[in-house]
Amino acid sequence: MKDQTQVPKHVAIIMDGNGRWAQMRRRPRLVGHHAGAKRVREVVRACPDLGVKYLTIFAFSTENWKRTQTEVAGLMKLFKRYIRREAQNLLEEGVRVRFIGDRVKLEPALVDLMDGLELLTADNDKVHLTIALNYGGRDEVTRAAKRMAYDVSMGKLNPRDVCDETFPKYLDTHVLPDPDLVIRTSGEARISNFLLWQSAYAEYEFIDTLWPDFTSEVFAEVVGRFGVRERRFGAVPV
Ligand code: IPE
Ligand code: IPE
Ligand code: MG
Repeated sequence: MKDQTQVPKHVAIIMDGNGRWAQMRRRPRLVGHHAGAKRVREVVRACPDLGVKYLTIFAFSTENWKRTQTEVAGLMKLFKRYIRREAQNLLEEGVRVRFIGDRVKLEPALVDLMDGLELLTADNDKVHLTIALNYGGRDEVTRAAKRMAYDVSMGKLNPRDVCDETFPKYLDTHVLPDPDLVIRTSGEARISNFLLWQSAYAEYEFIDTLWPDFTSEVFAEVVGRFGVRERRFGAVPV
């Protein structure tokens, strides 16, 4: 139904283009990742004024391990640094942080920092920031199916009760609403394994801006465009 004032309650972003941003400046790819990390803070801060309650960002995919060892190690170092540096700001700004993705493959020092930040900000409610780290939509659905099968084998779940309301309870995102708007920067029009189940009815915005150039003004403009879209969810507009 058309509603001129609608605001996306949950925005998910595929932060892409850091490498190209650096390449254009003849700098190493990691310089682009550092520039990109700076934008995250700006975008999180812009959420309350825009009415965005949930922000989910794709930081590292299950496929990103295929990159060079130097880039992967640099990114892991950057994630640790980001958590250490931003923890206090996030706490004071009322941001509740959660991580989604498979933690098993991540180094223990990083997992400790992730757990610590989740715990530190657990009572916050102004903005819910979810960081997808070693996240893949297929991997998430597969892990959910595995846990569900286990519950069935333990007699805790009757297969007859499996439906599209029970299944998402097993996903990493079980406490989050589905995204209303998914933004991908850098001009690529693909999902790259992000929130496959959850984005079934999301609106998509593929924009050319590279992630390190994604300012709060660009964010506000894209969120504003969502306001005039007509979402149908399979129905016929009345
Ligand atoms: C996105 O930027 C960040 C991560 C995937 C970690 P890229 O590193 O994919 O940048 P491009 O796509 O090579 O420009
Ligand atoms: C998707 O970007 C993953 C993240 C933004 C973390 P990629 O750059 O890895 O995706 P592809 O390789 O272009 O599909
Ligand atoms: Mg990319």
